[in-house]
Amino acid sequence: MKLDVVFTPAGLTSMEVQGRTVLVIDILRATTAMCAALSHGARAILPVASTEEALRLAQTIGSADLLLAGERNCVRIPGFHLGNSPLEMTEEAVRGRTLIVTTTNGSRALLACQGAAAVYPAGAVNLTLAAEKAREALERDGDLLLVCAGRDGAFSLDDAYCAGRLMAAALERRTPRRWMNDAALVALDLVRRYGERWERPLARSRAGRDLVRLGFADDVADAARVDAYPVLPLFHERRVTLVPVPVPV
Ligand code: MLT
Repeated sequence: MKLDVVFTPAGLTSMEVQGRTVLVIDILRATTAMCAALSHGARAILPVASTEEALRLAQTIGSADLLLAGERNCVRIPGFHLGNSPLEMTEEAVRGRTLIVTTTNGSRALLACQGAAAVYPAGAVNLTLAAEKAREALERDGDLLLVCAGRDGAFSLDDAYCAGRLMAAALERRTPRRWMNDAALVALDLVRRYGERWERPLARSRAGRDLVRLGFADDVADAARVDAYPVLPLFHERRVTLVPVPVPV
């Protein structure tokens, strides 16, 4: 078995992701906002690395259904329809639309995972479904990678705590420490340190503090709502779409 966490996609090689199941975490706010958009009926999300690429792609596709979304320094990119707030991704705004998204860290983390067998954007808002996929991968392949978006190529508390919670949920009572890399061990230690309450690590993180300072405290609260957007997004061939979830009978 192999259970790895990386605290930032910086330096992640295609060899490290090749053929693996990957959960990508940018809880504040990119993967949370993607779950919100898809659960409110967005057709697809196309993550790109830069504003220029977003504008170019919008021009190439040229459809009226397109929306440009994203942030720089947490604030909506000038001229874009939406920022990166999960609370902006209302049904009214996104139903039936395709979003081209560029964010500082989250969309880049997804793009770094191309070549993986399956890439699932994850957060607290889709914890149960994402953890189920993680458990399936561990049982089927004995292998799982969690990629934290981090912040500007460095560790971020919010994503690392979320990685720990996803692992804990996937592993249930087992803790196969000898199969984990050091970052995975630390992520689990954070869960012991902060316990069950998402609000504390999110509010203490640098990303959380910046968002509160800029007037996005409600986004931090929204990102902490477990299973608030119960969807399973899959990033495949440069687009994020929904994996249909079977309805229990
Ligand atoms: C990012 O991709 O860095 C973020 O999600 C930042 C933000 O939401 O402001």
